[in-house]
Amino acid sequence: MGIFKDHIEAMAAYAPPLEGRNPDDFTLLDFNERTIPVSQAIKQALVDYVQGNRLQQYPHYGDICDRLGRYCGVQAGQVMVTNGSDQGIDLMIRACCREGDEIIIPAPSFAMYEQVAKVENLKIVQPLYTLEGGYPLAEVRAAITSKTRMIVISNPNNPCGTLLSSDDIIDLASSVPDVAILIDECYYEYSQCTVASALDRCPNIVITRTFSKTWGIPSLRFGYVLAAQENIQALLNVRGPYDINQLAVVAATAALEHPEYTERYVAEVMEAAKPRLEAFLKARDVVFWPSAANYLWVFPDHPEAVNECLQRAAILVRPKPDTEGRLGLRITIGTLEQTEQLIAILEQCL
Ligand SMILES: Cc1ncc(COP(=O)(O)O)c(C=O)c1O
Repeated sequence: MGIFKDHIEAMAAYAPPLEGRNPDDFTLLDFNERTIPVSQAIKQALVDYVQGNRLQQYPHYGDICDRLGRYCGVQAGQVMVTNGSDQGIDLMIRACCREGDEIIIPAPSFAMYEQVAKVENLKIVQPLYTLEGGYPLAEVRAAITSKTRMIVISNPNNPCGTLLSSDDIIDLASSVPDVAILIDECYYEYSQCTVASALDRCPNIVITRTFSKTWGIPSLRFGYVLAAQENIQALLNVRGPYDINQLAVVAATAALEHPEYTERYVAEVMEAAKPRLEAFLKARDVVFWPSAANYLWVFPDHPEAVNECLQRAAILVRPKPDTEGRLGLRITIGTLEQTEQLIAILEQCL
């Protein structure tokens, strides 16, 4: 018998395939990251902070919640910063769900929800997304019982890119006021869809967001939660006072001061590169899921061979099976130039 709880020992670690991801060797289209580095303003802010001899101090978060509140159109008291949105997900599930409670996590989806639910020994209920129907709203409603504590809506979902409308989310949240509705808006700047304006009306809605994707600083681990003020107070009881490192706050502050750099990138990805890749795939009759984010889940006839062919051409994408075991490739979309290069290689690989 080990020193840990039985169900923890029976788990497997969430271990994303990080090995060999050297950006000098490959174009990295496998983790939905931004494909261009941060702006000079962010680099300079980080250098200035380090040179200012402040690393020996504990972090202090200053006015970052005010800035984020202004950016999101909510009050500062409705914001809490986190160590990536992974921490927001972790805090929410830990703070809301008791052992044996039910959590509805439609599949397939981002692995972290299930990982934390397993740590908390919850019963995971998994209605399935479909290519035709998108988010399984009717199945989710039908799955709600007196033991349901949380419903997860990854919006847009990873890996399929599916978006549920704000009206549908608000309807669902209003119909089950005692159930926590976790809305993961990790890709918000791409989808431009948010329920941030519904926090007062639906206090059971809690939103997680991040600076890992559009803002381009996953290495620094900076995320935030948007929720009704009383929910933020409860979550602050669980989060540690120094969980977010100071350099992450410095970089996020500088990024928010220069949003045009990120806005230009988002516009290029969503208005130029993504339509170009979609048109190419349609012309080649390759099936892909409609996506509201910077990635497409693509189902070529011979996915393994296409994946190997792309790797030989120094492009990494992410193989992801659907719920019936069919292998798809989740392809992150970068700049227009990178997308033209990808298409030129796909011409040979497909
Ligand atoms: C849907 C979704 N949520 C959350 C995350 C984690 O983001 P963070 O780096 O902020 O923890 C990811 C990362 O891939 C994601 O796809």
